[in-house]
Amino acid sequence: MKERLGLILLGPPGSGKGTQAKLLTEKYNIPQISTGDILREAVKQRTELGLKAKKFMNQGELVPDDVVVGIIEERLRKEDCERGFVLDGFPRNIEQAHALEGILKKLNSQITQTINLAVGEEELLKRLSGRRICRECGEGYHIIFNPPTNGGICNKCGGELYQREDDQEDTIKARLAVYAEQNAPLIKYYQGKGLLHRVEGKGSIQQIVERIITTIEGTRRDD
Ligand code: AP5
Ligand code: MG
Repeated sequence: MKERLGLILLGPPGSGKGTQAKLLTEKYNIPQISTGDILREAVKQRTELGLKAKKFMNQGELVPDDVVVGIIEERLRKEDCERGFVLDGFPRNIEQAHALEGILKKLNSQITQTINLAVGEEELLKRLSGRRICRECGEGYHIIFNPPTNGGICNKCGGELYQREDDQEDTIKARLAVYAEQNAPLIKYYQGKGLLHRVEGKGSIQQIVERIITTIEGTRRDD
């Protein structure tokens, strides 16, 4: 039997973490855990968490570590994570990486591969400015690279597509700046553990998922 997968997708805003995480959940039957999606849902529901997170998100800043670490611990404790998991958007800084390690230790679980999606800034800007998302099911689209068949309507569920509030030009710049500042120590950390794999993130969505799967299968151990 192959070992249970504990995947992390790293990469700048717009590098395709969410897009690829969804495909990996289908391939491996493991849940996608996206702190961004969880926070956006809380904002939509106007929960206490959502009200707290909203101002950070709209400025392109990170939501405080204690908040997101709590979210992740709660999520990783759910039964479906016993099959494995793919983390999308967490950890975002070295403090979160350390906290994650502590949580996984308690749960007798571990990270098996960290995939770092590499995409240049010009491409990121194009991807983020054209991104659209389904209000109902969260499916992601791009007006040019991955358009819905029917205008502003989701192919999967017929829901209305919308543009994320933080996909405005100024907020995109702030998010890219936060990423540039916080990411290098994370890369070093996972490199030091021998878990980091750089995957070229430019190409078609299908090409990229194949690259990721090849990387996973090439490094996956037997149980
Ligand atoms: P989050 O939601 O995680 O946003 P992000 O990291 O900025 O990443 P994105 O979701 O923008 O990009 P992605 O890599 O998922 O790309 P996607 O697949 O959509 O976080 C949002 C905010 O929440 C943060 O700013 C922060 O405030 C807060 N937050 C979240 N996690 C946190 C944490 N751990 N700590 C603190 N705060 C946290 O693709 C982008 C577009 O490109 C889409 O339109 C897609 O269709 C298209 N596309 C994808 N692949 C390709 C391809 N190969 N070719 C062409 N187009 C493509
Ligand atoms: Mg995302």
